[in-house]
Amino acid sequence: MLHSALNFSFTNPTYSKNMDLHLTLHDHVLILLAKLATCVRPSYITDSITAADVSLAPNMSYFRCGTPKITYLHLYECKDFSIGIFCLPPRGVIPLHNHPGMTVFSKLLFGALYVKSYDWAEASQDSADVQLQGLRLAKVKADGILNAPCETSVLYPEDGGNLHCFTAQSACAVLDVLGPPYDDGSGRHCQYYNVSSSAPSAGDSKPLPGSDGYAWLKESEQPKDFHLVGSTYMGPRILDN
Ligand SMILES: [Fe+2]
Repeated sequence: MLHSALNFSFTNPTYSKNMDLHLTLHDHVLILLAKLATCVRPSYITDSITAADVSLAPNMSYFRCGTPKITYLHLYECKDFSIGIFCLPPRGVIPLHNHPGMTVFSKLLFGALYVKSYDWAEASQDSADVQLQGLRLAKVKADGILNAPCETSVLYPEDGGNLHCFTAQSACAVLDVLGPPYDDGSGRHCQYYNVSSSAPSAGDSKPLPGSDGYAWLKESEQPKDFHLVGSTYMGPRILDN
């Protein structure tokens, strides 16, 4: 299985033989890291990928100031993982969402990106009353600005900031490897959330955590002002040989 997974390559006839080799190595690495996601920390590998490798630059139309949408460039998908790039113009926002049962590697290729992420707090901390109100307690994992170049971020099913939102401080490109990909049929639905502005009322006297470092989240529809559009990836292609 691993051998067949390695029979991929980035190809582009305009690249030199050396560049082909360079990109092929990157691709092998992406596949390996997706396969081995739960076993190793692969940041030392994805950290070597640059915007130039995938033919992106901040002056491209995806990143133009005032563009109200986020563009997704789809590179590859199989049952085990998907690879894509989110292109955010300045002030572009990807709202708070989850990655159920998934491991995600995110590499900021360029730009400054504000990231706020959460993991679910212990289920036992949610009282029945709280659950009835549709709220669930989450613990803040990250709350700060990433500036490229920076290390690859990795989130896991239960930790590492499985729920996150992005706000671009400048034009940003984020390469994502998701293993496995979203799949509604397998219970991996992308769910959006709102942060509750106040702590829930509890029917018992037990104090509820909800102060610094915690937030109450509630499921929501995809925000109306979130416009995600797909566009054709124009960089070196991934071929399944
Ligand atoms: Fe995400």
